[in-house]
Amino acid sequence: MTAWIDGRPLTPRGGERVLEAARRLSIDLPALCSVPGLEPLGSCRLCLVEVEGRGDLQAACHLPLADGMRISTETPRLVEMRRGLLRLLMEESGARLAADPEGPPLSRWLARHGVSVAGATADSRADRSHPYLLYDPGRCVACRRCVEVCAEGPGRFVWSPGEEGSGPVECGAADLRHSDCVACGECVDWCPTAALSDRDREGAGAAPERVVRSTCGYCGVGCQVEVCVAGDRVQRIDGVREAAVNRGRLCLKGRYAHAWRASRDRLTQPLIRTGGDLEPASWEEAIARVAEGLDRIHRQHGPDALGTFTSSRSTNEAEYLLQKLFQVRFGTNHVDCCARVCHSSTALALRWATGAGAASASYDDIERARCIAVVGANPTEAHPVVGARILQAARAGVPLIVIDPRRIELADLAQLHLALRPGTNVELFHSLAQRLVQRGEVDREYLERRCEGWPELEALLAGMDGLGAAARCGVGEADLDRAAALLGGGPVLFVHGLGLSELTQGTDSVRALCNLGMLTGSIGRVGAGMLPLRGQNNVQGNADMGSLPGFLPGYQPVTDPEVRARLERLWGVPPPERPGLTIPEMLEAAKAGDMRALWIQGEDVAQSDPGESQVLAALEALELLVVQELFLTETGRRAHVVLPAAGWLEQDGTFTNGERRIQRVRPALDPPGQARPDWEVVCDVARALGLPWSYASPAEVMDEIARVAPHLFGGVSYRRLEQADGLQWPCRSPDHPGTATLHARGFLRGHGRLAAIAPLVAPEADVPGYPLTLVTGRVLQHYNVGTMTRRTPNLELAARDWLSLHPEELGRRGLRDGDAVAIESRWGRTQAQVRSSHRVPPGLAFLSFHHPETHTNRLIGPHRDPESQCPDYKVTAVRVAPLGPAGDGPS
Ligand code: FES
Repeated sequence: MTAWIDGRPLTPRGGERVLEAARRLSIDLPALCSVPGLEPLGSCRLCLVEVEGRGDLQAACHLPLADGMRISTETPRLVEMRRGLLRLLMEESGARLAADPEGPPLSRWLARHGVSVAGATADSRADRSHPYLLYDPGRCVACRRCVEVCAEGPGRFVWSPGEEGSGPVECGAADLRHSDCVACGECVDWCPTAALSDRDREGAGAAPERVVRSTCGYCGVGCQVEVCVAGDRVQRIDGVREAAVNRGRLCLKGRYAHAWRASRDRLTQPLIRTGGDLEPASWEEAIARVAEGLDRIHRQHGPDALGTFTSSRSTNEAEYLLQKLFQVRFGTNHVDCCARVCHSSTALALRWATGAGAASASYDDIERARCIAVVGANPTEAHPVVGARILQAARAGVPLIVIDPRRIELADLAQLHLALRPGTNVELFHSLAQRLVQRGEVDREYLERRCEGWPELEALLAGMDGLGAAARCGVGEADLDRAAALLGGGPVLFVHGLGLSELTQGTDSVRALCNLGMLTGSIGRVGAGMLPLRGQNNVQGNADMGSLPGFLPGYQPVTDPEVRARLERLWGVPPPERPGLTIPEMLEAAKAGDMRALWIQGEDVAQSDPGESQVLAALEALELLVVQELFLTETGRRAHVVLPAAGWLEQDGTFTNGERRIQRVRPALDPPGQARPDWEVVCDVARALGLPWSYASPAEVMDEIARVAPHLFGGVSYRRLEQADGLQWPCRSPDHPGTATLHARGFLRGHGRLAAIAPLVAPEADVPGYPLTLVTGRVLQHYNVGTMTRRTPNLELAARDWLSLHPEELGRRGLRDGDAVAIESRWGRTQAQVRSSHRVPPGLAFLSFHHPETHTNRLIGPHRDPESQCPDYKVTAVRVAPLGPAGDGPS
């Protein structure tokens, strides 16, 4: 099948329209009211083309390309007609835009069609209120592209047509800074006149010197980016339109928050503690100090005296090498990662239930889902690109159930919001399971064929007091019935977050959710299954690489003699057989004097882990603390050796996102000063310790990973990863396409395992004297402990952590928005400013943890999930009171 556009042949793709086909051939066909991926408005008529054999002109944005068609886009008749349309557009809009062959699209079309215009002049109405976006209404031609993409992308309605629908668009607030804008940059991407533009592109020159495709280093979504570089600076970051993960979309962190890279306080030189202070040193001195220190402690005190926390911000290759170093050189499994304090419960429960501690589903299942349940997650803030996909699916009519104590943004679009009491997840999920049984909506064929443990779970559900459970969860009977009716209709996509895993009963909460996944026949089906949203960019990969004390790369148990024997053949020495310690256990061992050396790669445990004073005491008790970091963090300040690291814009390697997709990370820029990529530094230390490591590149490391864990990564290589969308594991052989839906032909462990578990009362529920329940979490503008985002203009958008309370709770305490308060739990005390929010119900308090001065984690108690050791960040009893003259203590 062949068609021709301007004499150039191409094969029509199913459903493709002429405008899309022309874009495929890089033909710059003017088209003002059409944006790829959205239904064209068909009003501007600029895209009219001639079709051989048809007399009338056709709108290319609507015309399907068919076999044998011969299209002309640039005949004298078309050019003349477009010239007239463009002239009219400029006259009617009054926009001040220069005709410029190098300018934004409309400027180019004006120049090409010889339309003379008044030209650009500065407009006093230009809105410069936002740190990233600039809006000059004087350049707006009211094409409405921004109105469309804002609604269809992030799902906002920031822009609306101006006066009588023909004036410049308006943002519905005094200025852009105070509008609903989430700074995703989508409108800038599509504005044809640069009326909407990026402030950091001002004066940056039109064309970048080079464009590097890579993977975003914020959160576990794994958006594909094109980093445009000029000199030694990032000129801008664009989303990759063809990428399966993000389809060109980004959030404000991925697109704009890159100023940390050139921050003045980046670590640019190794530091060694001499006397009491950290002093600059050469790499040779730093490597020698690390190697000698580790070797001495190992010789004097044995393998249990050393451990490492690998970084979930680093690459798979660097993580693999660091855990391998501790395995082969020091014979210890004291290797752990930040998953311990976030999704360790998820990984454990999913592995227990299904055989794989990872998502069964993919992000593409969002659009294929029959029903979506978002549980203990706030995707539009913490994972905005995935959040927008869920939001759009709900808007398109997919039933959405939100289960979360807070009325998160997605709850506004949900058919049902179950605002459960924090920590009552197991009981709530059991209640829903009980109702599925009562309604006869359990997928019994699926259970019989694919699962085990049903008789035990059925007996437990049969004995449950349904009415009491609803009351304890704080959810109405009718709402539970409605939720069961929605879930019972067939496969469901369960999207969950840290609201489940960071609980004292975190592992059991995820197990109970997996029960629902199996009762509804969802796991292993397209458009359904389990899709945990992972926090850090490479936390999935870090666990995959063996940074867990009980597992070797690919989740191979350290206790399995066959696995150890196979790895001995590959590594030359057998990995140690005893499981190591988790992060909290290593810190306790350090405090007790048993753990003497720690290498912490890219993790600020002093800020991110609970029990701040205990963590600091543990770090200060160490004989050798090695910290590999971008900045001198609170943890780094306690180090004996600080190794300056390369960030995600400067590293070569791979990240694995939350849907098990391994994608390339490519260096767009050199690290500053003497900072170096993590994998190189680990290799240097290994060689200084006498290991014959000679990896020439991260690609070679990946080849080894494929041999070490062939059941998951056997077919993964850099050659294949050059494919646009990477590879989803398991990918077992060079011809294996990767796996979008895990457990499709049966569970990895054989049978899916149902869990008959008793719900427990959260230890911080109903503590006398502490009337509020504190939930901690992220906000849109910041990432984790803010090490990177606080060094960007995101700080202007969110300068502090706020304690959000329902207006009733403010009134009860005589508080107003912005008042400073003391927050006190049984474990610690801190201060913050309050903000009134209807999204937080009475009795609940929400506090983020992005700013070190907030000391959010001082409030967190010692409660942990007994299996995963994950701290309970989601249920803490607190009291709050005004600070200063109006109040002298929490109540
Ligand atoms: S793009 Fe406007 S009518 Fe086709």
